[in-house]
Amino acid sequence: MSGTPKHSFGGPWTEIKLDAISDYLNFYQNALKNQNFVTWYIDAFAGTGERHARVLTGGLFEAAPIEEVDEVLAGSARRALAVTPHFSHYWFSEQRPTRVKVLQGLGAEYDRHVIVRSGDANDELCKLFNNPPWVGHRDQGRQRAVVFLDPYGMSVGFATLEMLAGTKRVDVWYLFPRKAVIQQLANEASGLDDDKRSSLTRIFGCSDWEKRFYRAQPKQGELFGSDDTVNATRTASGNEIALFARERFGQIFAYVSEPIPLLVNGREFFELYCFSNNKPAIPLIKRGVDFVVKKYTPASRRRSDP
Ligand SMILES: C[S@@+](CC[C@H](N)C(=O)[O-])C[C@H]1O[C@@H](n2cnc3c(N)ncnc32)[C@H](O)[C@@H]1O
Repeated sequence: MSGTPKHSFGGPWTEIKLDAISDYLNFYQNALKNQNFVTWYIDAFAGTGERHARVLTGGLFEAAPIEEVDEVLAGSARRALAVTPHFSHYWFSEQRPTRVKVLQGLGAEYDRHVIVRSGDANDELCKLFNNPPWVGHRDQGRQRAVVFLDPYGMSVGFATLEMLAGTKRVDVWYLFPRKAVIQQLANEASGLDDDKRSSLTRIFGCSDWEKRFYRAQPKQGELFGSDDTVNATRTASGNEIALFARERFGQIFAYVSEPIPLLVNGREFFELYCFSNNKPAIPLIKRGVDFVVKKYTPASRRRSDP
């Protein structure tokens, strides 16, 4: 694990996110082990497979002084490669060439079938699911996948979620960037520039959000003014905005889990969701996801930084 480019990200919430995904992958592989499926682990924002973090060590029980040290922890790719029974295929995509190189070494290290794609996650996922064996292949009906979407920000287009829902054979874990979305929504509609509008329309997959979140209000002191004194103000709260996103997911996936809230400095930054459109499997998926959500939601609230 040494000698690879340093990829530092996250905090205590990251371990909760990765623990939750690992538990689900274990559940999934064990639930499907005696069935005739070809299983894929698909990590579209794969990083390097490692995470460099500052962690506290020492203290009373270790009889050592408390200090902050650099530690290398397993990221999502390595955690997935360690799951038993193994997936039939591991598919990683990543935008940064230096990280792609590291991912390319993982197949040999773990002795697994690993496919690595360099490029934008949305484009690469689209290519994967529009080609054999996912379509146009005699075994296409046997393919099953868990897809993990772990972007830093608002990089997942709603069109990508729609494409994944359309496969009807994949379970999607999505780190929805709640805080980043709310930050794009200026207090006054006049503060929404073209870039903000298009990134919000891309993530929600519609332009209705503006009608839902903003109300026209007469400017103060100009109650009886003409139309041009009317300004649209954001009236939707953070929870209402998050609820709108959840509604949108429910319009394309038959199953949308309760999200696990991931907190940074006591504030909700991300929401970790599981979606699926694999209707016959929903009771089973729900069983695995409910277990994971119940296990990690309290931990997530407790371990929020002060
Ligand atoms: C939060 S990190 C992923 C961490 C990883 N899941 C782990 O646990 O080790 C996000 C990664 O996505 C990559 N990335 C950012 N935008 C991307 C895009 N549009 N397509 C593919 N990869 C992207 C970044 O370079 C970064 O390595």
